[in-house]
Amino acid sequence: MTKIITIAQQKGGSGKTTLAANLAVSFSLNRKLKTTILDADPQGSLGKWFIQRESKLKDKNLIKMKTSSLWGVQYESNSLKDKTDMIIIDTPPKIDADGRPAIQIADLILIPVSPSQVDFWATESIIDLAQREKKKILVVINRANAKSRLLNEAKQFISKMKVDQSNTIIGNRQIFISSMGLGLSAIEKQKSGKGSTEISSLASEVLSLL
Ligand SMILES: Nc1ncnc2c1ncn2[C@@H]1O[C@H](COP(=O)(O)OP(=O)(O)OP(=O)(O)O)[C@@H](O)[C@H]1O
Ligand SMILES: [Mg+2]
Repeated sequence: MTKIITIAQQKGGSGKTTLAANLAVSFSLNRKLKTTILDADPQGSLGKWFIQRESKLKDKNLIKMKTSSLWGVQYESNSLKDKTDMIIIDTPPKIDADGRPAIQIADLILIPVSPSQVDFWATESIIDLAQREKKKILVVINRANAKSRLLNEAKQFISKMKVDQSNTIIGNRQIFISSMGLGLSAIEKQKSGKGSTEISSLASEVLSLL
């Protein structure tokens, strides 16, 4: 049965698109799962990454892509059901009631949080939205600097919100920036790098919740 993951966070730049792309590659390459990314962000960053990827990898690109408005994600997802194992929905920042269809259709809401107070503030409302829809939630700390005091603050903040946080913490790594620009993922660009290990481990945690 098709599983749907919606990546959401009110705060712009928390890493939604980066995680969508990297998880999609991990699912399709490492787990041999048919994976479709659904770009519901009018900025179209994930779609641009995909187009870059197609022209680079040609038929070696195993991922499929669709675009959709936020309100159209349920229709698009339903039309993909049983044609793909995984659907990863990337959403725009500042979603509110208009983001509800993307939350409702999901089996899991993945919420990236950067270790910064501004991200913590933004996270409460997206958790609230997902909880009201009684959805499984996984918060993942992204762009972490292991030495920063803010990393502990982020962990404490998530604990206080009483939602699951991943054991995997995604570091602040150049590989995530450079690989995206090429239409690739950390796994493909630096197979045995730390970024690649982090993504594989996050992918395992996500799959174990579905
Ligand atoms: N773990 C990371 N390490 C280093 N840079 C990162 C990491 N995750 C994301 N970035 C960079 O941070 C910026 C924002 O990331 P991204 O576009 O994935 O966030 P977003 O939540 O999708 O943003 P938006 O809300 O605008 O859609 C990008 O330049 C991206 O390359
Ligand atoms: Mg984005």
